[in-house]
Amino acid sequence: MKGLIDLSGLPPDAVSDILGRASHYADLLEAQTTIDPILHDKVVTNAFFEASTRTRLSFERASMALGADVLSLDPEISSAVKGESLGDTLQTLAALGTDVLVLRHGEDDAPAYAANVTGLPVINAGAGTSMHPTQTLLDLLTIRRHFGRFEGLRLAIVGDIAHSRVAAGLIEALPSVGVDLRLVGPDSLLPGDADVPTTDDLDGCLGELDIVYLLRLQRERGTAQPSFYTEAFQMNSTRSARLNDRAVVMHPGPINRGIEITDDVADGPRSLILQQVANGVPTRMAVLEVVAGEAL
Ligand code: CP
Repeated sequence: MKGLIDLSGLPPDAVSDILGRASHYADLLEAQTTIDPILHDKVVTNAFFEASTRTRLSFERASMALGADVLSLDPEISSAVKGESLGDTLQTLAALGTDVLVLRHGEDDAPAYAANVTGLPVINAGAGTSMHPTQTLLDLLTIRRHFGRFEGLRLAIVGDIAHSRVAAGLIEALPSVGVDLRLVGPDSLLPGDADVPTTDDLDGCLGELDIVYLLRLQRERGTAQPSFYTEAFQMNSTRSARLNDRAVVMHPGPINRGIEITDDVADGPRSLILQQVANGVPTRMAVLEVVAGEAL
């Protein structure tokens, strides 16, 4: 695998293989077992041109856990502020000895551009509204480790789906593993061309769901909060009480408390939100292992 730009470009068994390795690394991390430093001779460079806490730090943690050296570019204090082009910045990172480039950027095609301009394996850490493949993988890992299966689970993505790269990845991946997916939100925040069922009636489907996957409103991409949003779409204690006993709540983070989710649900027994964060590390270890392995 020469980098990870999107999931659709992967060979047929790659997702299953990565989830298997991620699960293995999750077990090792939980057991605090010594991990083979297979990337001891590699340099992983993180270049995040959009804000991030979870993705950036979990890539750093994953890289260090595998023995890699880690460089992290902070664009706001880089020579980008002196007018250096994106291409020149990326080529500079390559010239500094980068073996694997982890890139987050506001433009959909930035990871492909970075791979082209540097020749490096690039891992897409979130690009525009198009794709966030390692988030999709860690969500798959979280679901499988919690439920032990995908087949037959009923999941609703709720919120600003039209502007969400997280939703784009889930819409691509979940039906192919057997999850029964539906999209829930106001018409203005639903994609116009979805191949899966859509509805604006969250209350009408709550009782059928195994997983409620909440999204925040993507204000940085121009989404305004509809006046009726919390009344119709907020996951609160009343709605949580109407879910079946085994149903869980997921969210890629960052969460906006009091808007799409209330404190009692975010911090309550149904919440897998921090488990998703934790699973980011073994998932990214598995991706780095596969990507760097191909780059040897
Ligand atoms: N889920 C996610 O991508 O979070 P960060 O923006 O904090 O990396």
